[in-house]
Amino acid sequence: MSETPEKHVSKRGCLKSKRSRFLLAAVALIVIIAAVVPAVVVTSLRKKNNSMGPKAKVFVPLYVYPAPEAWSPLENVISAHPDVNFTVVINPGNGPGPNALPDANYTREIPKLTAYENVRLLGYVHTTYATRNVSSIRKDIQTYADWPTNSSNPNLAVRGIFFDETPQQYEPQTLKYLQGLTDFVKDLEGLGPNQFVSVVHNPGAVPDSRYLATADSTVVFEAAYNTFQERQGAKLFTDITDSNRTQLCAIVHSVPQEVEGKSLRSLVKEVRKVADEVYITHLSTDYYASFGNKWNEFVDLMAA
Ligand SMILES: *[C@@H]1O[C@H](CO)[C@@H](O)[C@H](O)[C@H]1NC(C)=O
Ligand SMILES: *[C@@H]1O[C@H](CO)[C@@H](O)[C@H](O)[C@H]1NC(C)=O
Ligand SMILES: *[C@@H]1O[C@H](CO)[C@@H](O)[C@H](O)[C@H]1NC(C)=O
Ligand SMILES: *[C@@H]1O[C@H](CO)[C@@H](O)[C@H](O)[C@H]1NC(C)=O
Ligand SMILES: *[C@@H]1O[C@H](CO)[C@@H](O)[C@H](O)[C@H]1NC(C)=O
Repeated sequence: MSETPEKHVSKRGCLKSKRSRFLLAAVALIVIIAAVVPAVVVTSLRKKNNSMGPKAKVFVPLYVYPAPEAWSPLENVISAHPDVNFTVVINPGNGPGPNALPDANYTREIPKLTAYENVRLLGYVHTTYATRNVSSIRKDIQTYADWPTNSSNPNLAVRGIFFDETPQQYEPQTLKYLQGLTDFVKDLEGLGPNQFVSVVHNPGAVPDSRYLATADSTVVFEAAYNTFQERQGAKLFTDITDSNRTQLCAIVHSVPQEVEGKSLRSLVKEVRKVADEVYITHLSTDYYASFGNKWNEFVDLMAA
């Protein structure tokens, strides 16, 4: 009998120590979980929130008349963000305008922009869906190319051409027309060293993919916020996103005022996924004639 209690004790002791070891292990586990899980969750949340996806250039259809100070909102963000590249389209008169040089406001303001290394200026030329007379288009392009010599100012210059109103539907003669214009631009002296000269097309929507190679970049979206949401919902961009993102530009206007802060952040992130050049504005009329009230917020998100 004297042995039994001992056994009991020892058994109990054994049980007790098993139980306490289990408890200890459980407590340790809880402590580890409590310590590690929040850290993991917080880290992954932080990663998720901070990641804005691929970097993209700010694309600016600068159809703002350069009255004194009118381009300051652009100059301010350009100098504040030397790590962000800006592609800026100027349009003095539905193209370079009728004269050899644009007016004195333009000749004063353009060299200020081209002085920045993170700016690439493009001259606006319309093609009226590839129906415009090629000689008239060439004349416009040549006018831009002659600016530096005609003004004796090397900084009064563009580094490429933005062709507005290019077609979406494929036609063999249209491909030739567009390729011919691109060759003309690339061969011109006056637009700078060949490899730095850009050609941008604006069909405003995803064109036949055979046209993509005739430009350095193509505007595959130029429409309102609601339309972007619809096309995104319809996964319209997914086909081209992966292979050709660096050749794409997207312009989203008429963004509702309530899309700000976090929701503007996710919009910028979505558009950056689609295209390597991005413009987003809250203006819903004359989208490009001034800077919207969330212009700075947009550029900050492009820099993030
Ligand atoms: C420059 O812009 C100002 C303000 O719009 C205007 O009054 C002036 O006439 C312009 N100068 C030229 C040379 O067009
Ligand atoms: C900006 O442009 C420079 C020079 O072309 C290039 O090296 C750099 O990668 C560009 N950065 C972005 C974010 O596009
Ligand atoms: C384009 O315009 C030029 C000069 O005005 C003219 O000689 C030429 O025939 C026109 N070309 C076409 C295809 O209309
Ligand atoms: C500038 O262009 C005008 C008009 O085309 C021309 O008459 C003039 O000779 C040009 N000046 C220079 C320096 O190229
Ligand atoms: C991507 O770009 C290349 C060269 O510009 C072109 O040949 C190809 O068709 C494009 N791919 C798609 C899916 O559009």
